[in-house]
Amino acid sequence: MLENKNILIGITGGIAAYKICNLIRLYKKAGANVRVVLTPNALNFVTKLTLQTLSGNEVYVDNFEIDEYKPEHIALTESDIFVIAPASANTIGKIANGICDNLLLSTACAFSKPILIAPAMNENMWKNSFVQENLKKLENNGYYIIEPETGFLACGTNGVGRMKEPEDIFEKTVEILSEKQTLRGKKFLITAGGTREKIDPVRYITNSSSGKMGLALADCAFKMGAEVTLISTFKAEKPYKNIIALTALEMEKAVKENLLGKDCVIMAAAVSDYRVENVSEQKMKKKGGEVTLKLVENPDILQEICKVPPLCHSVSFPPQGEQRSQALNERIEQEAAREQLSSVQSLTPSLTLPGGEGTCANFMRNTLPPLRGKCPEDKGGYQENPITSKFSSNPLLEKTQPTLHSSPITPCAPLIIGFCAESENLIENAKVKIQKKGCDYLIANDISRKDIGFNTDENEVYIVDKNLNIKHIEKDTKQNIAKHILEEIFE
Ligand SMILES: Cc1cc2nc3c(=O)[nH]c(=O)nc-3n(C[C@H](O)[C@H](O)[C@H](O)COP(=O)(O)O)c2cc1C
Repeated sequence: MLENKNILIGITGGIAAYKICNLIRLYKKAGANVRVVLTPNALNFVTKLTLQTLSGNEVYVDNFEIDEYKPEHIALTESDIFVIAPASANTIGKIANGICDNLLLSTACAFSKPILIAPAMNENMWKNSFVQENLKKLENNGYYIIEPETGFLACGTNGVGRMKEPEDIFEKTVEILSEKQTLRGKKFLITAGGTREKIDPVRYITNSSSGKMGLALADCAFKMGAEVTLISTFKAEKPYKNIIALTALEMEKAVKENLLGKDCVIMAAAVSDYRVENVSEQKMKKKGGEVTLKLVENPDILQEICKVPPLCHSVSFPPQGEQRSQALNERIEQEAAREQLSSVQSLTPSLTLPGGEGTCANFMRNTLPPLRGKCPEDKGGYQENPITSKFSSNPLLEKTQPTLHSSPITPCAPLIIGFCAESENLIENAKVKIQKKGCDYLIANDISRKDIGFNTDENEVYIVDKNLNIKHIEKDTKQNIAKHILEEIFE
């Protein structure tokens, strides 16, 4: 089951350390190569000799016992997964804060593949708000957490904090290692949240969208290997790039500026159809009587980006590749004819974005003119989340990413997936909408129900494709719905 897998186990100073002997045996029996790194405190609970004998490999503790040219914390990162069990409150806190004062911590800091954390501690330690915050931080940064269970604790009490059994940790490891990396190397742009249309400095018009569905899709695409850019109406502390756009106009700008080079765009945000025409600069005072707000229509971002695919340097999805490129070629030919290619070519010298794959520089390099407009330089109007904007690629994949096949003059129309929230005639309205918008897929959900859709943790959706085929995905958590949607479309 785990043949050819290299598993690195990290043991910290907790009483559950003795159980790891059993975990090593489970991994070994399943065919994995197991190496072990311990914190110096863990040596109070298990011996190096036992772990060496069970794993059949050298066991590591000290940062500075370097036999080879490569420092151990770097050499150890060449494993498929790092399982830290038991994970003490101390080590969890240090990892979450980038502290590297022992070999296990330095290895965790440098590790770019999945890390599974199995906390074990006294109930009060587990409930400590700092410990919980640290765990949340790790979870938000793509770490897998296998939560402890309730039971008899070594401190003599009953409560939550007991490390999950080795069999459960083993199963979780298998599950993580078999997660499909179908989207490896693909670039996804995903929107989430309900836009806020300002009335005055303190008031706005919005809707009930929580952004949970878009967030679940972004998380899932990231786990499936995609390089994700999330444009959301809220700050998301995630291991992928996050751009905050509050209003429909800001979202439109952010989407258009980040569209080039993307392989897939998922428009899950609930973008307000209307905005206030004259936003008051000062807080509006109560004057008695009625107030009338004039609303004007917002741009239909989904429809706009479906209209004309940008041309750039890109890759296509293997399963859809052929059908898609034929459809695209037709679309591009029509557009080219309409827009008089030669006159559009004169726009090329005005393209201004810096070079790099998927940017306008590729148009220049390949002397392919864009079919519409130019790339704006100005980044005003929305902000990049400073916490996550440093991530430009999926760190879980850095080591495994294959060289992508890319054609220098491939028309890069990303696959576009829209959402439609309907309170009646769900399927009929979805069919009309996909034809009107021109996107590749439309995810329809019923917002009249209290148990699914807006501001809930669960959803039930229908995927409608261009040919009006419909696939029903039954009620489930938004995380599972996201997984089903991506698997259905991309596998
Ligand atoms: C007998 C004993 C059992 C302990 N069990 C745990 C435990 O289960 N979880 C935990 O977080 N700390 C536990 N501790 C405290 C840790 O060993 C201590 O916080 C230590 O600094 C952890 O260091 P490390 O994270 O570098 O391994 C225990 C301490 C002792 C003496």
